[in-house]
Amino acid sequence: MEINIRRIGFSDAPTLSDIARKTFYDTFTGTCTEEDMQGFLDQYYSVEQLGKELLDIETFCFFAEVGGTPVAYLQFKESYESFPEIKKWKAMELKRIYVLKEYQGKGIAQKLMDFFLEFAVVNKYEAVWLGVWEHNLRAQKFYEKYGFINSGFTHDFPIGSTPQTDFWLWKFF
Ligand SMILES: CC(C)(COP(=O)(O)OP(=O)(O)OC[C@H]1O[C@@H](n2cnc3c(N)ncnc32)[C@H](O)[C@@H]1OP(=O)(O)O)[C@@H](O)C(=O)NCCC(=O)NCCS
Repeated sequence: MEINIRRIGFSDAPTLSDIARKTFYDTFTGTCTEEDMQGFLDQYYSVEQLGKELLDIETFCFFAEVGGTPVAYLQFKESYESFPEIKKWKAMELKRIYVLKEYQGKGIAQKLMDFFLEFAVVNKYEAVWLGVWEHNLRAQKFYEKYGFINSGFTHDFPIGSTPQTDFWLWKFF
């Protein structure tokens, strides 16, 4: 299967919104109320909101495409504000890595992660970090394979009125 990675442009905002809503819903449905889920999707994954992020030159967004069709996306940004303990290092946050359900387990996430780590190394970052829901065992296992470790710090990540806790994971070069 040929997998192509390409930068997401502003005009791709509707496609990104579709994939972002679908993958977030499939990952977290059942962990919060339907109302909280819809509110979260509308707030964070609307075409308007994602369009703003695509216009931010410090935010990097990429699709993984199979046969020219986007099936996964990756978003990263140099960022420190929600994880002050990482400030000692030049650090990049992996903000989102989401693969459509039917394309998981096929090497697409690996390709995106390799791309992200190479970007960080080439650009002389000392650390990369991310938040993962405490019960998202599949993602945790995936990150573990890449040498991410639990920093011991956590973060509240509520979906609407449903409280959830994320672990902050980090990896140093
Ligand atoms: C997390 C994600 C990017 C990983 O990509 P992937 O293609 O599924 O990656 P893998 O197939 O290598 O799966 C990772 C590991 O989890 C294991 N796994 C599969 N289902 C699992 C489950 N229900 N519970 C625990 N581990 C599971 C796999 O066997 C694999 O481990 P192995 O290589 O030792 O066999 C992808 O699953 C995804 O997009 N998930 C939904 C969105 C998401 O959770 N994003 C991350 C938010 S922090």
